[in-house]
Amino acid sequence: MELVQSSRVERRASAQLRLASWRPKGAKVIVADLNADKGEELAKEIGGQFVAVDVTSTEQIEAAVNAATELGPLRALVNSAGIGWAQRTIGRDGEFGSAHNLDAYKKVIAINLIGTFDCIRLAATAMSRNEPLDAHGERGAIVNMASVAAFDGQIGQASYSSSKGGVVGMTLPVARDLAAVGIRVNTIAPGLIDTPIYGEGEAAEAFKAKLGESVLFPHRLGAPDELASMVVELVTNSYMNAEVIRVDGGIRMPPK
Ligand SMILES: NC(=O)c1ccc[n+]([C@@H]2O[C@H](COP(=O)([O-])OP(=O)(O)OC[C@H]3O[C@@H](n4cnc5c(N)ncnc54)[C@H](O)[C@@H]3O)[C@@H](O)[C@H]2O)c1
Repeated sequence: MELVQSSRVERRASAQLRLASWRPKGAKVIVADLNADKGEELAKEIGGQFVAVDVTSTEQIEAAVNAATELGPLRALVNSAGIGWAQRTIGRDGEFGSAHNLDAYKKVIAINLIGTFDCIRLAATAMSRNEPLDAHGERGAIVNMASVAAFDGQIGQASYSSSKGGVVGMTLPVARDLAAVGIRVNTIAPGLIDTPIYGEGEAAEAFKAKLGESVLFPHRLGAPDELASMVVELVTNSYMNAEVIRVDGGIRMPPK
């Protein structure tokens, strides 16, 4: 049983996982997202089940975890819900009022960082009740989606980078906490991945091609499948634990 927080990256990712790995292993997927239309569509595509979840609601996360455990033992959680916000820390006019919107900062932290931790603590609690999968006592695996912005935050990315840096920072201590019950925790820091986050149509394609030039090699955005294959590896490779892995074509983001 896999609980997957949906996203456009993960929608494509889970479609690929289904073909490559999950279905042969007999996994069933709960797609948990705010967006019911797209979440339902994905769940249908992969033979999973959609549960409406706002990751700032502990109650709704619990409901999704319970729905997952009704399908079988919960073995994997992929944390991918996330939002961005672009604003400089201070304005140009010297007025307090034009400083970074503090509510926006708190919202990004609430979803990207606290939401991720809340999903981890609740899903891991359910996983801790599982029978071990092997003689070493593995009970489950968790994969978080951070960002290269955790390391190379650009101008205007204070809130987003803070949130993703928090996810990177929690990876080791949470993996240490959960080692006692045989749950592995890893985090991916994607670079520029081709999702609808960049828009659609001709102008978006031109923008993405331009963005891709800044990637070390290959000079393009990453395909969702290339990210998905790392998710599969981290879910299935029992010797991967407490690690943060960049999947970014070698990009190092400049200040702007
Ligand atoms: N696309 C990229 O280049 C890129 C790069 C680095 C990191 N990431 C990270 O990967 C993840 C997926 O990004 P994406 O590109 O697919 O973006 P996306 O906007 O397509 O997906 C984000 C998903 O999160 C959901 N969501 C937002 N707020 C939520 C909430 N409160 N509760 C539940 N769900 C919520 C949205 O409905 C959406 O399905 C995000 O965490 C993002 O920060 C993406």
